[in-house]
Amino acid sequence: MRKKIVAGNWKMNKTWEEAKNLLLNINNYVSAHETCEVIVAPPAPFLDKATDIFQSKAKIAAQNVSEYEDGAYTGEISTGILKSINVEIAIIGHSERRSLFGETNEMIGKKVDRALNEGITPIICCGEVLEERKSGNQQKVVSEQLIAALAKVDTDGAKNIIIAYEPVWAIGTGETASPEQAQEMHKAIRDLLAEKYTQAIADEIRILYGGSVKPSNAEDLFSQPDIDGGLVGGASLNAEDFKAIISAGS
Ligand code: 13P
Repeated sequence: MRKKIVAGNWKMNKTWEEAKNLLLNINNYVSAHETCEVIVAPPAPFLDKATDIFQSKAKIAAQNVSEYEDGAYTGEISTGILKSINVEIAIIGHSERRSLFGETNEMIGKKVDRALNEGITPIICCGEVLEERKSGNQQKVVSEQLIAALAKVDTDGAKNIIIAYEPVWAIGTGETASPEQAQEMHKAIRDLLAEKYTQAIADEIRILYGGSVKPSNAEDLFSQPDIDGGLVGGASLNAEDFKAIISAGS
């Protein structure tokens, strides 16, 4: 039985004062409701203090990580740096990283490999843009993204990954994939994982849905057989909305 995950990706939002209040609020709630796993990915400068606030009730994730080990890469954050402040999860290959910062499938494969080698759980993002869905190519696009992201991931590594399917046309638009559209893709992703690894491993991997998840649609999405929770953007910035989504995953 896969335990659901509700993860909040704050993107480039919140000052420290605002972040602290939201983290404290979520931490209090999670202490009382621990049936799903809760992850928050705040902006990088808050990672260390956020980990202190959460202790280990909920987990903190980075929004990105470098493909390089260390050295002269101004502005980048390595897996080793994350580990040294007890951050053990990183979102990798978010569509905004792909479209706005030029991340390629190949780079994402390197980041995933580096994360797993360092004991960091990657939340590997995939998802098609609107034209790709309109032309019926969504499964081809997503499987190409995942094949590249998992190129160096062996069976052992696969036991420590999380996948997030985020159709780009549903991110920040208010437009959500229907539970049926999302389920169809999640099932296709699980089939791909079963083919590459084994059915038993595929059955253990959590596949999250992201793209305008809100309190009003979370329960319908999360009740689909292959949807194991959500990667939430906008609604994770508001304590009451995020808590309602956690409750839908519990
Ligand atoms: P929204 O929930 O704001 O659509 O964002 C989804 C997302 O990109 C999470 O990573």
